[in-house]
Amino acid sequence: MKLQYTRAVLASLFCVCLSAVWVAAATADIPAGQRPGCPERCGDVEIPFPFGIGKHCAMQTKYPFDLDCLDVNGTKKPFYNNNEVTKISVQEGKAWMKLGISSQCYDHVTGHILYDSNATAEFGDSPFWLSTENKIIVIGCQTMAYMESNAYVIGCFSTCNGSTPVNGSCSGGGCCQMDVPGHIYSYDGYFDEDYNDSKIWRSSPCSYMAVMEDKAFQFSTTYLNSTVFNDTYKEGVPVVLDWVITLDTCEKAKSKTTSYACVSTNSICNDDPSGGYRCNCSHGYEGNPYIKDGCEDINECLDNVTYPCPGICNNTMGSFTCSCHQGNYMENGTCIPNRKSGFLALPIVGWFPSSVITRTNDNANHLCTPI
Ligand SMILES: *[C@@H]1O[C@H](CO)[C@@H](O)[C@H](O)[C@H]1NC(C)=O
Ligand SMILES: *[C@@H]1O[C@H](CO)[C@@H](O)[C@H](O)[C@H]1NC(C)=O
Ligand SMILES: *[C@@H]1O[C@H](CO)[C@@H](O)[C@H](O)[C@H]1NC(C)=O
Ligand SMILES: *[C@@H]1O[C@H](CO)[C@@H](O)[C@H](O)[C@H]1NC(C)=O
Ligand SMILES: *[C@@H]1O[C@H](CO)[C@@H](O)[C@H](O)[C@H]1NC(C)=O
Ligand SMILES: *[C@@H]1O[C@H](CO)[C@@H](O)[C@H](O)[C@H]1NC(C)=O
Ligand SMILES: *[C@@H]1O[C@H](CO)[C@@H](O)[C@H](O)[C@H]1NC(C)=O
Ligand SMILES: *[C@@H]1O[C@H](CO)[C@@H](O)[C@H](O)[C@H]1NC(C)=O
Ligand SMILES: *[C@@H]1O[C@H](CO)[C@@H](O)[C@H](O)[C@H]1NC(C)=O
Ligand SMILES: *[C@@H]1O[C@H](CO)[C@@H](O)[C@H](O)[C@H]1NC(C)=O
Ligand SMILES: *[C@@H]1O[C@H](CO)[C@@H](O)[C@H](O)[C@H]1NC(C)=O
Repeated sequence: MKLQYTRAVLASLFCVCLSAVWVAAATADIPAGQRPGCPERCGDVEIPFPFGIGKHCAMQTKYPFDLDCLDVNGTKKPFYNNNEVTKISVQEGKAWMKLGISSQCYDHVTGHILYDSNATAEFGDSPFWLSTENKIIVIGCQTMAYMESNAYVIGCFSTCNGSTPVNGSCSGGGCCQMDVPGHIYSYDGYFDEDYNDSKIWRSSPCSYMAVMEDKAFQFSTTYLNSTVFNDTYKEGVPVVLDWVITLDTCEKAKSKTTSYACVSTNSICNDDPSGGYRCNCSHGYEGNPYIKDGCEDINECLDNVTYPCPGICNNTMGSFTCSCHQGNYMENGTCIPNRKSGFLALPIVGWFPSSVITRTNDNANHLCTPI
């Protein structure tokens, strides 16, 4: 992981690089799963167990998993500790929330610098911490800002003097960004007072700092001389959080039989590299591992895009088989008619993942099973 310091970082500040690898996960439409009698969703947001609306619907560990479902201007929205939650993924072990941004504006009438919002988060004693899929973003033409967290102070310098801002590029010209390391569960954003917009307020009166999902951010030069950034994210910027059940390892958690969270049959336990554990359905199953019988068999035969089968598909528990009709055999993921030996077949372009293909000989029905 590379941390790019633009121009300058105060010598007293430090930053430690950690590498954390997060497995990218496909997000298919899979039924969520709640405790009986508990609401499936709050407004548009699905609330899968271990999360729940209210204490009786949520898991009880050392950490609270309960959310509040509040009415915001006629729309129901879930909140965790007053932070709006926009998505929870059991499969990925992640949640998305809207968190604040910091702004600094020069008021040329009074000659004062105004700070009218602060990027801040506090997830101590909660199942959450910041995912490394977030970035620290600083927007401004003469701005140095930092994320001061439970572990590190990290910041960068953004200028328009000598480096022209370019749409879509956050690399020093009007915008700079830094990686978010692992193990961050609280932070505040703040500006270095030695840098401000007092001399350039006509072209760029405000600066911003935010910690937000890298994928969700695209720099626009209009952010420098308008309120577009602040207006776009007035309800908060999207932030990705990782969550775990407890900080125990799987081994330790399994020994505490009454509190072990992976209760579904066909579920497995995964240790998070940063500490703690989460549950998952076993390979070939999908659903909610935190609920009794929450993991259900995937019927691979209904999804020939992910699980291509050129012949007869047969779903089995946790897997499937694929065979060719009588008189055909499978080669390179295609069923082709049996032929007399010595006869030259035309080459067939295979378009199936190799894991599904078993090379077979020239006879009758052949099976291939995924690993
Ligand atoms: C569950 O398993 C899938 C597929 O193996 C993987 O992509 C995902 O990251 C796992 N989720 C958790 C919470 O471990
Ligand atoms: C509620 O809606 C009104 C009118 O649409 C709007 O002016 C107000 O800012 C909204 N309040 C919140 C908290 O979103
Ligand atoms: C933001 O933080 C600054 C100091 O870091 C403080 O002066 C200011 O009042 C805070 N603003 C808000 C809106 O909390
Ligand atoms: C811009 O850079 C030039 C040369 O590096 C310097 O002389 C000037 O003071 C800078 N202007 C501002 C506003 O920082
Ligand atoms: C940059 O993108 C914004 C919209 O995101 C657009 O309004 C603006 O004209 C673009 N500027 C340039 C220089 O392309
Ligand atoms: C702006 O920053 C300069 C130093 O770069 C400082 O001398 C000045 O007092 C600051 N202005 C305000 C209003 O804080
Ligand atoms: C902002 O700056 C761009 C060029 O940098 C200019 O085209 C645009 O008109 C400016 N917008 C405002 C509101 O000043
Ligand atoms: C940003 O938006 C918030 C909420 O709408 C508002 O209170 C604040 O004054 C705005 N700040 C700037 C710099 O536009
Ligand atoms: C996948 O299934 C659909 C509907 O059952 C069918 O129309 C399509 O041809 C199949 N595609 C492949 C590659 O087998
Ligand atoms: C499909 O698989 C099941 C269970 O493995 C087996 O009992 C059944 O005979 C198979 N059907 C076909 C058509 O292969
Ligand atoms: C199957 O694939 C192998 C290696 O990719 C190739 O050598 C062979 O000719 C292919 N057979 C057919 C029938 O396309």
